Amino acid sequence: MTDDDTHDDDAPGRGASATASATASAIWGGRFSAGPSAIMEDINVSIDFDRRLYREDIAGSRAHCKMLAATGVIAAADRDAILAGLDQVEGEIAAGTFAFSRAAEDIHMNVESRLAEIVGEPAGRLHTARSRNDQVATDLRLWVRAALDDLDTGLQGLQRVLIDRAEEHAASVMPGFTHLQAAQPVTLGHHLMAYVEMVGRDRGRIADCRARLNESPLGAAALAGTSFPIDRHMTAAELGFDGPMANSLDAVSDRDFALEYLSLAAILAVHLSRLAEEIVIWSSDAFGFLRLSDSFSTGSSIMPQKRNPDAAELVRAKAGRVIGDLNGLLVALKGLPLAYGKDMQEDKEPVFDATDTLALCVAATAGMIADADFRTGAMKAAAGRGFTTATDLADWLVRVLGMPFRRAHHVTGALVGLADAAGVGLEDLTLDQMQGVEPAITADVFGVLGVDNSVASRTSFGGTAPDAVRAAIAAARRRYLD
Ligand code: ARG
Repeated sequence: MTDDDTHDDDAPGRGASATASATASAIWGGRFSAGPSAIMEDINVSIDFDRRLYREDIAGSRAHCKMLAATGVIAAADRDAILAGLDQVEGEIAAGTFAFSRAAEDIHMNVESRLAEIVGEPAGRLHTARSRNDQVATDLRLWVRAALDDLDTGLQGLQRVLIDRAEEHAASVMPGFTHLQAAQPVTLGHHLMAYVEMVGRDRGRIADCRARLNESPLGAAALAGTSFPIDRHMTAAELGFDGPMANSLDAVSDRDFALEYLSLAAILAVHLSRLAEEIVIWSSDAFGFLRLSDSFSTGSSIMPQKRNPDAAELVRAKAGRVIGDLNGLLVALKGLPLAYGKDMQEDKEPVFDATDTLALCVAATAGMIADADFRTGAMKAAAGRGFTTATDLADWLVRVLGMPFRRAHHVTGALVGLADAAGVGLEDLTLDQMQGVEPAITADVFGVLGVDNSVASRTSFGGTAPDAVRAAIAAARRRYLD
């Protein structure tokens, strides 16, 4: 009876390859007489997820192989055999015909064992002056670098959608909120442009992360470097890195790049969740500021009238998941002694999960905003409720009557109280009523009490006046979209 017979076939992660674990690994089996137990295999294998690194793994192997030949560590004929074999392996994986083996643990050993089947003895020379420790660090850096570039492209697309919709609504008045209480009128264009700035900072963090990430761990070998005359500058250049990492211990143990990636991912997810929450609020019947398109609404199985903003709710919720990805890796790395520890194998799933999650969230957010039917009438009506032009009135008292702002605040408060008691808006008070509170007020004051006037007057740089918003849009197009 083998070990496998003692285990429930439904155990997690057990596949057809479980029996393969009963034999010693061909790659490191020299020291072992028996294969790992099935449980050991289940906890140890990473091929189920790290197969996503295959392109990067093969790119790293190509670079390493060429360098070994260039430095005379392996013969040119071996190099050629290995490179041809790697092409075949890559083709098989891309075509879906590659038989991944859980017994071979991870992507590195899966590629290498298949290479050995294809090219024979030269395959065994590829791992000279290399370890899986510098290999995996290189692979994941390359993968994250590509993910950063993809994310940046997605975010530029989101900015384009936001900017286009902002331009359309540069003068559409809506209430601006603080404490989710109507505060002062703003324009919808101005509100949407706030997210363009947030996403702009996210893209800045992507660029920062990419710049710091772009050094090569390859050639650090297991942890201490190697006695072979390798050329780490050559492999670094071949892989598009700016140069080799300076310290071999750091090279194999550093996962800062993954943490930085997940940090910027978490901040981005928080930004998207804030916009998602606004979509949820605005599309509610109580607000009625926005109607999602059919393609981004779902119905209810019991209430025929419902149009639910499920995509927005999921974007809102998935921020928790991305924050969890960051938190999980931070905790996994905390307190790890140098250099490599198998704990680091836990770096990949959070990175993959955050990447997949954000790709969906960015696309869903762009889709919802692109198609949204903004109800500008409801927005404008709401903008006028709640005495949102009270600040304009106070500013008028300061500007025209020369009143100190604190006194103007007090006078305006009294006028708001009067209007509130009468159940009318500020602009509905008569001049007599106003002069009852402050005799110096003139009819000129009515010019600042409408929401359009209020918005138009906010011409300070970065303010909500339609002209200022249009200027911000033009600047954002140049900065982010050109
Ligand atoms: N699958 C491993 C990982 O993802 C590769 C490195 C294994 N290194 C080792 N010394 N066991 O971290």
